[in-house]
Amino acid sequence: MGMQISPSILNVDLSRLADEVERIAAVADWVHLDVMDNHFVPNLTFGLPVVESLLRHVDTPADCHLMIDDPGRWAPGYAEAGAGSVTFHVEAARSPVQVAKDIRAAGARVGIAMKPGTPIDAISDVVRHVDMILVMTVEPGFGGQSFMETMLPKVRQARRIADASDADIWVQVDGGIGPGTIEQAAAAGADVFVAGSAVFRAADPALMVEQLRAEAENAARP
Ligand code: DX5
Ligand code: ZN
Repeated sequence: MGMQISPSILNVDLSRLADEVERIAAVADWVHLDVMDNHFVPNLTFGLPVVESLLRHVDTPADCHLMIDDPGRWAPGYAEAGAGSVTFHVEAARSPVQVAKDIRAAGARVGIAMKPGTPIDAISDVVRHVDMILVMTVEPGFGGQSFMETMLPKVRQARRIADASDADIWVQVDGGIGPGTIEQAAAAGADVFVAGSAVFRAADPALMVEQLRAEAENAARP
């Protein structure tokens, strides 16, 4: 797999969600859907009914990022709805290994996410059961924040864990990714990039997706 771009629709016109996804559908690898419950994070977005409805109208694979408490209760439903990837937060799960197994059993790839303050060791038990490690590069909850360069060592640690595994584990970064910061994240070992405001505030979102992928590929070249 090369470098993958997953545009986040967090700050688009949500009344026209399917049309907004259409703007990046031809070039994006995924569409990143930020589910927030106003408990795990101090913001509220949308949940399973909206994701189910959207998936009936778009072909782009869905990369669901669950910023919710009790992911064990909800995460498998997103996989059953047809999401290609379901990521939950290790801080929120009582039994991360069980949640990961349930997502897989329901047919999706599994991602494990960490907030900036959570050390990489928090995922050591669950990492054998996941397909992707998400290193948050902002405090989760809102789009449009600045990339935290202090997370680059954690991205490098995640890359080492991924490389040490027999499985093909991807390393995703989310928060403040755009021209410039994507190069730093790619050089540190990320290979899946969430970008919200950089893509959807661009004059031509599809062109920005292509530009970001090219920058990531250049930065990762040895
Ligand atoms: C933040 C979300 C991100 C957000 C990224 O909690 O998880 O996916 O939409 O937005 P930007 O790219 O604007 O930082
Ligand atoms: Zn996200």
